[in-house]
Amino acid sequence: TEETLVLVKPDGVARGLTGAILARIEAKGYALVDIRLVEPDRATLEKHYAEHEGKPFYEPLLEFMMSGPSVAIRLAGNRVIEGFRSLAGTTDPTTAAPGTIRGDFGRDWGLKVQQNLVHGSDSPESAARELAIWF
Ligand code: GTP
Ligand code: MG
Repeated sequence: TEETLVLVKPDGVARGLTGAILARIEAKGYALVDIRLVEPDRATLEKHYAEHEGKPFYEPLLEFMMSGPSVAIRLAGNRVIEGFRSLAGTTDPTTAAPGTIRGDFGRDWGLKVQQNLVHGSDSPESAARELAIWF
């Protein structure tokens, strides 16, 4: 089995989609190992998003992630890293496939950062690094 970090981002929590997102995760058969409501400070987000420092969406991304609470989830399952990213859909909600979280619920707000509802770690190395930041 494998673990990943999932975040329901501030747009997902504010829009009341936490339950709908958790329902998809649970229906898929993944196990909730730990879950908490978080209000990350800037230092935490700088660590989490270190790979994106300097990109045009970096500052808007940090501002967005500090705009309200998120739900952090330690999620376990067979090939859950790849599997959750498949459930989430591609980064841009405009073109994310129907049937995915971002494809079904995501909206293009025309903002400087994609408010795409969820985060999922993208590799075993990222998962280990990110889980240590949030839990
Ligand atoms: P995460 O699961 O959140 O990491 O999404 P991802 O792996 O699909 O995207 P990535 O790690 O490349 O980017 C992190 C976050 O930055 C995304 O989820 C978006 O919120 C935002 N973002 C990434 N790329 C762009 C972009 O090209 N334009 C805009 N506006 N926002 C972006
Ligand atoms: Mg990413």
